[in-house]
Amino acid sequence: MGSLHIRTYPDPLLRKKSRELLQVTDEEKELIGYMVETMYANRGVGLAAPQVGVAKRIIVVDAQTGLLKMINPRMVSAKGMSSLEEGCLSVPGRLVEVRRAEEISVSFMDMDNKESLKSFKGLTAKVIQHEIDHLDGKLILDYLPWYRRLLPKRGDVKCLQ
Ligand code: NI
Repeated sequence: MGSLHIRTYPDPLLRKKSRELLQVTDEEKELIGYMVETMYANRGVGLAAPQVGVAKRIIVVDAQTGLLKMINPRMVSAKGMSSLEEGCLSVPGRLVEVRRAEEISVSFMDMDNKESLKSFKGLTAKVIQHEIDHLDGKLILDYLPWYRRLLPKRGDVKCLQ
């Protein structure tokens, strides 16, 4: 195993809507293994397949509740809202305050092609929402007010080159 190359903004693949999987094959299992390696190698708490160049609805998360591997994750309910400064491996050097739900229920398929419904809270819930955003082509930059998109903060300039 090894680490995969992480696509960074403004790579157009990060803006694509990823497609659902009918089932997990050996090919996806191998990809998921690489995604986990890549997440840990970069000290990330989550990673979505489009970040490594694959437009499939697959995410891996390891925030507070152990390693999660989810295929076709979909938020089915949400409770509470709060802000958190988020970073993203695809938007290096940038922190953006993002408002998201505090508790969520997520339906997803696991590595054995079984449908599952689980609830999450705290950082794990936030990271799952961040990764689902990636599957829809959405980035933390989209949560910036328009004037901050035009006028980057001092120190952010390097990342925009
Ligand atoms: Ni990200």
